[in-house]
Formats: sequence, C-alpha cells, structure tokens
Amino acid sequence: DHIHVFAPATVANMICGFDILGFALEEPGDEVIMRKTSVPGVVITKITGDDGRLPMDADKNTVSACVQFLLQHLELEDRVGVEIELHKHMPIGSGLGSSAASTVAGLFAINKMLGDPLSKEELLPFCVEGERLACGHGHADNVAPSLFGGITLIRGHDPLDLIPLPVPEELVAAVVFPQVDVPTRDARQLIKEKVLLKDAVIQWGNIAGLVAGLFKNDYDLISRSMQDVLIEPTRAILIPQFYEMKQIALENGALSFGISGSGPSVVAITRDKAMAKQIVEQIKAHLAESEIESYGYVSGV
Ligand code: HSE
Repeated sequence: DHIHVFAPATVANMICGFDILGFALEEPGDEVIMRKTSVPGVVITKITGDDGRLPMDADKNTVSACVQFLLQHLELEDRVGVEIELHKHMPIGSGLGSSAASTVAGLFAINKMLGDPLSKEELLPFCVEGERLACGHGHADNVAPSLFGGITLIRGHDPLDLIPLPVPEELVAAVVFPQVDVPTRDARQLIKEKVLLKDAVIQWGNIAGLVAGLFKNDYDLISRSMQDVLIEPTRAILIPQFYEMKQIALENGALSFGISGSGPSVVAITRDKAMAKQIVEQIKAHLAESEIESYGYVSGV
C-alpha cells in the first residue's frame, strides 16, 4: 500500500564541468514514502532530518509541488491523492544535491505508483523543474545522476540531452561537508557571467580530457583533467579552509580535489577506499582545529 524510494546524493560539476557533469554517490541519500489516499490532492505528512527548515505546506514544498505538477501534466490531479513522508539524510545547502535527491525520490515514487506512465528520460524535465523551484535555476547536473545513477553528461539543457558516461571501477569519492551554509542561489549569483577565452580553452580541454579518461579508464588523464579554472577561484572564498583542504587531499595522493556542486562540500577523487577514508579523517581533524564542525562520506562513484 505504499512505495518507498531512496534517491542518492550527487556531486554536480565533477569539478571541471559546471552545470553539465555530475555523479551519484552510494550514500547518503533521501527517502520518500508515498501512500495513496482516497481524497485527491498531495499532502506532506512528515519530514525528518531537515531541522524544521522545509515547508510542510504542499504548495511550497518542492517535492509535493513537483508531484502536483506531474499529476496536472497527466491530468490526474482531480482523481489521485497521495500522502508523502520525506526523510532527509543529508544537510540542506551542502552542495550534495539535497533538493535534487528529494525531488527525484518524490517524482520516481509517484510515477511508480501510477504504473510508470513516464520513462526516466521523460521524468527528468520534471525533476529539473524542481531544481528551478528550489534554487531559481533549472540545472540538471544533480537530478540526472540522482535519477539515473553513475556519471551523467548533460550535453544540452534545451532540449535536455542526457548522456550516461562510463564509470571507471576504482573511482572512490571522499566528500567533506564543512558545516557552513552556502545556498546554491547565492553561490550562483557570485560567479562571473563572462569568462576569458584563454580560461575557457583550458576548461573545455579539461572537460574533453575527463570524458576521454572515463572511456579509456585512464586515471592519469582523469586526474589531469579534473581541474576548474573558471568557478573555483570565486566560490572557494565561501568555503572555509578550502586551499588547506586541497593540500591535504593532494598530499595524501588524491587524483583531484574541488568543490562539490555549489559547495560548501568538497570532494577528493581517489582510486582507493582507504586513501579516501584517510583524507576525510585528516580534513575533518584540520577543520576541527578551526572549530568548524564537519561531516564526511566515503563512497564509490
Ligand atoms: N551546477 C550547479 C552549480 C550545481 O554549480 O551551481 C548546484 O548544486
């Protein structure tokens, strides 16, 4: 009588690919439990793990708003009623695709409940709409990997052109969330609208190199390519101890280090779980010295 869906956290941008690349983590992730009701309409009955920050009002909550939107699209809003429980297992505004995971879980659940009228590809634009509601911009680089898993490329947003990429077996992500709030909306306003051609050349070389590295299983090429000259210099200002954390990761042998999504979470890419664990521990200890609380996650890509 109910549907229980888990949707994973994601690392958008994959360091070099602002708004176009992203990958899913194994954990953390958000859960949605959806039940059918006899009264038409969408209600939120419970939210946990959000420190009371998310609206219970079904029109204002992104998850229920997206579910309503999908029901309207299918012309079912007068006939279908659901209750939604949302269980958040990751911090909001952390750069781990928190809003995306909730939206994907909610939309996947309603689609399942209705007998899968839409394919995952058809569901994706509704998830993107959720991102627009949550942060004012409809980027797909969190929702796509959360919905499809693995590594995804969004070649274009209009129309959405999604390309799943190969995932080299040994990639492990070490993620640390320093507990400061950086809303995506703010982190997007900060970045410059214009870029220099010489920087753009470096960046698209890196993106092409990363995609080639994923196809060739070439970890050196992946390492050389996962660098960001466009966004990181500006956004790093919002992240305490960013360059110190980078130094720790690279000294411990990480292939690459950068901002996860719009931050403040950071991500180190490694080939080794033990190395990833060590990086998380050392970064957390370093942040603790500056009295910054943090969460760490180690996950396969
Ligand atoms: N690509 C988006 C950004 C991801 O960097 O703003 C937000 O999580």
